[in-house]
Amino acid sequence: MSLPHDRARTAWPTEGLSFGGDYNPEQWSREVVLEDLALMREAGVNLVTLGVFSWVVHEPRDGEFDFSWIDGMLDLLHENGIRVDLATPTAAVPMWLHLAHPEILPQDAFGHPLAPGGRLGWCPSSPVFRGYALRVVEALAEHVAGHPAIALWHVGNEFGGGNARCHCPVSNDHFRAWLRDRYTSIDAVNSAWGMAFWGNTYSSFDEITTPSGATAHNPGQLLDYERFSSDALLEQYRAEREILKRWTPDVPVTTNFMVGLGPDVVDYARWAPEMDIVANDHYTYGPDPLRRQELAFSGDRMRGMSDGGPWMLMEHAAGAASWHPINQPKGPGELARHAFAHVARGSNSVMFFQWRASRSGTEQFHSAMVPHAGRDSRMFEDIVRLGADLTHLDEVMDTVVADVQVAFLHDNEAGWALKSGLKPTNQPSYADTARAFHNAFFDRAVTVDVVPAWVPLDGYKLVVVPGLFLASEETARHVAAFAEAGGTVVVTWFSGIVDEHNTVITGGYPGAFRELLGVRGEEFSPLTPEQSVDLDNGWRGVRWTELLRSVDADVVAAHSGGALAGRPAVTRRATTGGGAAWYLSVDLDRPSLDDFAARIIAQAGIVPVATVSPGVEAVRRASAESSYLFLINHADTEGWADASGTDLLTGAAHEGRVALRAGAVAVIRER
Ligand code: GLA
Repeated sequence: MSLPHDRARTAWPTEGLSFGGDYNPEQWSREVVLEDLALMREAGVNLVTLGVFSWVVHEPRDGEFDFSWIDGMLDLLHENGIRVDLATPTAAVPMWLHLAHPEILPQDAFGHPLAPGGRLGWCPSSPVFRGYALRVVEALAEHVAGHPAIALWHVGNEFGGGNARCHCPVSNDHFRAWLRDRYTSIDAVNSAWGMAFWGNTYSSFDEITTPSGATAHNPGQLLDYERFSSDALLEQYRAEREILKRWTPDVPVTTNFMVGLGPDVVDYARWAPEMDIVANDHYTYGPDPLRRQELAFSGDRMRGMSDGGPWMLMEHAAGAASWHPINQPKGPGELARHAFAHVARGSNSVMFFQWRASRSGTEQFHSAMVPHAGRDSRMFEDIVRLGADLTHLDEVMDTVVADVQVAFLHDNEAGWALKSGLKPTNQPSYADTARAFHNAFFDRAVTVDVVPAWVPLDGYKLVVVPGLFLASEETARHVAAFAEAGGTVVVTWFSGIVDEHNTVITGGYPGAFRELLGVRGEEFSPLTPEQSVDLDNGWRGVRWTELLRSVDADVVAAHSGGALAGRPAVTRRATTGGGAAWYLSVDLDRPSLDDFAARIIAQAGIVPVATVSPGVEAVRRASAESSYLFLINHADTEGWADASGTDLLTGAAHEGRVALRAGAVAVIRER
């Protein structure tokens, strides 16, 4: 079941860009709540996510509902002009339910149930949990329907963040039913998974279990278990959404994804069509020196999942997280740089976890818009400044990210397949190559759409297939058609190796793209971290090599020594429509990749968004009428960009060149 909907017509929950965060007033006294509202007005907050963990407040005892607290909060927020993204409380199982039904706890691969407490303590397949969850959702939706504060529904919280894989008896039954539905016969399962290996052939569906324990399971079975687990969680989302749509048909419904590099716990790209607004929680990893680029990658993926349209940054951190080994705050100005970077890449919101830092509980040291120090703090000052700055950007609401000429294909299933079963190198790193390529383009101010592998590719000049280990016949055809129509394709090592069943495509690697690339790979030869190979054009390969033969491709670079001396490493096949299909059979080191990126950008005729100094991120959002250039100087030195127009943040007019202080942001309305 999927809801027919048109995201373009979905009303955005706020008039301007949404600004606010998770609000958990049940943790605070009335006095603090009243202070919160005053501070929210001061900061310009216009949307808060309410009630994420409030099940026990709504239903303190089995079947006894009390909505007086939520009524009071909705009224208070409404009186203060703040719209509400109201959560269904199903991420937080009340203790009375755990006591009455311990069987709803998810079980790990060794059959150990999780302990009550924490959050998401439910098995995605449990009909008992589903019954209680839908009952509270129904009661809540019926009760609040029509309240003018409610602008958006937030189903549960971060689906699968803790309960994504369950091995309890109910999940086992559900897995078997899912397989019956998908394959119809047990012979089809045996054949898809290749169960003849090790004599693991099944005689009936009853013999199949979830891949649990320490056994080395079949790669096809492992992959299908990942798909099943994502689908089991999606059933819960759909069941809740159906109730919400019945009571409040005009209120958009979403849930918060956790999109980073991938693969993710659930298959977000396949969930996205079920969302009225696609929303993301994004947390940078403090010690990552390139966290800004990982942030950009996730924004580019979000846009890829929202058909290029606006998406919602539902949560990010004002400062430090608390789950890393060492949690460092953001540097001076970084809060604003991160917020604007999300907006630059298509978000129409800047939302945080959370409004006020908690005194107690697991996340008592997680940063918030109002820190423990209170109003008189650098953090809150930054928040107030950001809120004010964002009000100058309302005219950007109706624009989308523009001038994108490059697509990277991404598929969660490829990432799952890569970590399912043993590989030539068992350090699964699905998105490593994608990230390295993205970084090379990011540094050159070339915007990339990171798109699901099946979206239409016309309109792009270059399509990169970065480490797409699994590729269906359809994906292979789709990519080949793009190249044959004149596009440039770059396929990187260990792409197109298996089909949708995680079965090797034989006859020469990379099976799915072999003909397009005009090559035939015979053996993989991964490298240790200490090893590297030199190519005859001066490039260097790390991590990966293979014994490759060219069938009808030009050899751009060959191995200059070692066991593969003289063998092709980088090839290019000219396609009939004037396009080109490149194959990189080695993982290029950073200088070589930079050289390659510069070359491919020039050859494919890709024009950067702007000419900028090193460290300046440039992204354009535009509509038919107007165009805005977002410039973010991540460097700690003065930078610049060649652009003309008016900076929405300062009102300053620029002619030809925009100077950017170290760490500064500018949003230029271009002429
Ligand atoms: C996630 C959750 C929040 C909170 C934050 C902390 O995004 O949705 O409830 O735990 O992480 O960073």
